Amino acid sequence: MTVLDGLVGTGSRLVVEEPERFRVHRDSMMSPEILAEEHAKIFEHNWLYVGHESEIANPGDYVRRRVGGRPVFMVRGAKSGKVNVFHNSCTHRGAVVCRQDRGNAKVFQCFYHAWTFDSEGTLSGVPDREAYGGTLDWEGLALRSVARVESYRGFVFCCYDPEVVGLVEYLAGAKDYLDLIIDAAPADMEIVRGTNEYGMDANWKLLVENSIDGYHAVSTHDTYFKYLVALGTDLSVGVTGTAHDLGNGHAVLEYEAPWGRPVAKWEPLFGEDAKASVDGLRAGLVERFGEERAHRMADLNRNMLIYPNLIVNDIMALTVRTFVPTAPDHMEVTAWEMAPREEQPDVRQRRLDSFLTFLGPGGFATPDDIEALESCQQGFTSGGVEWNDISRGMTREPRANDEAQMRAFWRRWRADMDRVDRTVNP
Ligand code: FES
Ligand SMILES: [Fe+2]
Repeated sequence: MTVLDGLVGTGSRLVVEEPERFRVHRDSMMSPEILAEEHAKIFEHNWLYVGHESEIANPGDYVRRRVGGRPVFMVRGAKSGKVNVFHNSCTHRGAVVCRQDRGNAKVFQCFYHAWTFDSEGTLSGVPDREAYGGTLDWEGLALRSVARVESYRGFVFCCYDPEVVGLVEYLAGAKDYLDLIIDAAPADMEIVRGTNEYGMDANWKLLVENSIDGYHAVSTHDTYFKYLVALGTDLSVGVTGTAHDLGNGHAVLEYEAPWGRPVAKWEPLFGEDAKASVDGLRAGLVERFGEERAHRMADLNRNMLIYPNLIVNDIMALTVRTFVPTAPDHMEVTAWEMAPREEQPDVRQRRLDSFLTFLGPGGFATPDDIEALESCQQGFTSGGVEWNDISRGMTREPRANDEAQMRAFWRRWRADMDRVDRTVNP
């Protein structure tokens, strides 16, 4: 008998919490049935990140995305100026209507039989319309909007469940951290054009855990730390800080930056010439927000999970990352770099250098992390060991390099997976 036989409540069977011990069963990372259940219970009912408003600044701008495994596209309506998120499926006989990753369009013409839709989703053209003798339901055949679409400070989310709570209520404590990160920009934030896209042979929840795991940095990313030390960075502070459960499965770890931050902590890597301008950015933050908040913005790193699959890393650069499982042991990752609009070219350059050096798919960190996560996934297939242990820090006030933040995720996962009113095949 396995842990999945003969019991109800998948969540509670796979996530077991005792006063001093927290365990997650490895079936949660390997089973196709669990993945199907996650789609039905998690990705269908929670707010999911679609993109950032700055990616579709002008009327008719659009981006194509896979959100929770489903093809959708986000377009700025030419008449309303509104952000629309549509199911990417023609209302005629189903073809994908938006076939480019990004662009600007007055109309979207389906390539199959050439029905056309405008940027508000309205059906605007049907070839040989006389064939319907005036009975075609033009309104009913508009593109179908995703059930709920809301944005918070430029971050656009959608939800396939019309009954979901409002986005701000859903974000809970994560909202304050988004505010802190976004307020640090002198104007608005924008997504720097271009994406990183890559895949890895690991369960998507391993990347959730890894993204808010400060504990692995010193061992896994040893090469990067040696590189920084060789260039004169003082890493003696280590990863000291705190972790917070932000509610609804969201979590953050916040810690003293052991490396430079383009906004606004200088390090030798940036060069002597950059010192004055970085100090200037910092003085600007102090003026706008006072010492304490400016200190958090300038000197502290944040790795935040917005449940279930959005990561905002405010570390040596600011990245936004989302991922979607395509199999129990495979996920696809998309990542963007975020930066203040109209940033000085030299500051932008330092930011992009920091981003590529550490966080990009060819940087110092991401290949290490992929290796670690794929290694876990391979280790699971060996069998013999049923449970992962996620108890670190349970018996003390948890620190940034403990595992309280992962437990916050897993508790919400358990609650979602325990729900009986969401069937796998509705
Ligand atoms: S499927 Fe789109 S026009 Fe026929
Ligand atoms: Fe890492």
